[in-house]
Amino acid sequence: EQLNETDRHSLPQTAFREKPLPIDSIEADERDRHVIGITEMDRVLGGGIVRGSAILIGGDPGIGKSTLLLQVLDKLAVKGSRVLYISGEESSRQIKLRGVRIGTSSKNLLVLVEVSLENILEQIIAIKPEIVVIDSIQTVFSENLSSAPGSVSQVREASEKLIVFSKKTGTSLFLIGHVTKEGSIAGPRVLEHMVDTVLYFEGDSGHAFRIIRGVKNRYGPTNEIGVFEMGEKGLTEVSNPSALFLLEKPHSSPGSIVVPSMEGTRPILVEVQSLVNETTFGIPRRTTIGVDHNRVSLLAAVLDKVCGFHLGNHDIFINVAGGVKLREPAVDLGILSAMVSSFLNRTIDPGTVVCGEVGLTGEIRGIGQMESRAKEAARMGFTRCIMPKSGALNNVSGKKINIIGINNIKELTDHLF
Ligand code: TYD
Ligand code: MG
Repeated sequence: EQLNETDRHSLPQTAFREKPLPIDSIEADERDRHVIGITEMDRVLGGGIVRGSAILIGGDPGIGKSTLLLQVLDKLAVKGSRVLYISGEESSRQIKLRGVRIGTSSKNLLVLVEVSLENILEQIIAIKPEIVVIDSIQTVFSENLSSAPGSVSQVREASEKLIVFSKKTGTSLFLIGHVTKEGSIAGPRVLEHMVDTVLYFEGDSGHAFRIIRGVKNRYGPTNEIGVFEMGEKGLTEVSNPSALFLLEKPHSSPGSIVVPSMEGTRPILVEVQSLVNETTFGIPRRTTIGVDHNRVSLLAAVLDKVCGFHLGNHDIFINVAGGVKLREPAVDLGILSAMVSSFLNRTIDPGTVVCGEVGLTGEIRGIGQMESRAKEAARMGFTRCIMPKSGALNNVSGKKINIIGINNIKELTDHLF
């Protein structure tokens, strides 16, 4: 289908021009999803790609966004969906070379190198793909705007036009966005409110692990994660992330502890490390990777006040192994245990995991999903789980793992070592 000049200029319609409908007459089917067949990705999306939905994927340059989306499109294409990968970042040759690496093979996977919004819309209208990937949204610009490509107004305009188009036609849309340091290029954050689903790619390029995390999802649970490993042939799924994250855990070193953290609906075991050292010069340092900086300062203050461990003149470093980011308060007790262990220079019993939220008076507060956490720890061969003492403990079967309930951090050192 060729479009004439007038059509072309009326293309990016921003209005839906529909009539109000009674809600009971509107058809909507939750099962109306494209299931990708990459379990880790389908789960993060809430069971596949909803038709007509817009999904933003953010992440640092080089983390693997293009690779993941090409793999997703290839899976869908092999199943018979017509899919279109639009790149403004690489030449078709480069895309083909990546395709060869990950083993793409389907004729249904179409590749277009284009940066003009008007041309992109024209091609989507002509080709009628079921799923479109824009790599990246920061390269797309509208000829109707005078601002520079990559500026906030260009990125917003392009996204808005593409999203409205995808909603009207039922085309599913992936927008890739680079997370950028402040500057003239607009980062994915400015688009979060416009899309249905926001996913972020985490992990540091020094490691092979890649975590994709759902931070917003109008069609599914949030905070669900998918774990991948980057290899010679692209990304492969990691079905047992606990095993992966504990792979390099030292056997007997002070400052290391394992915590069962809930990542969406799944418990995952991760190692938290701490180094607590007397400050030799200047102001004590508090450096954290993977956990909230303020939380660590707060926990150090509680330890000082309640247990009399004077960390005030100590440097504190906290690191979560494998580049995982832990956000739930249930990891408080893990951070605190790691600090105590390093401060006292005593190794925590290697069969022990801990979880619980810590309050300002040193009380251990209840947390959700205690049973799943304990079960995951037992599955991975741990023998003891230190948790908040509460009614919920009764549900945890004590057969495989010894559950120790505590009320206050004062009781912690009785059980840790
Ligand atoms: P890429 O998908 O280009 O990242 P992004 O689109 O987020 O910028 O991935 C880039 C990195 O991944 C690059 O350093 C090479 C590496 N990589 C592999 O290790 N194996 C592979 O099979 C592929 C395709 C890439
Ligand atoms: Mg890329």
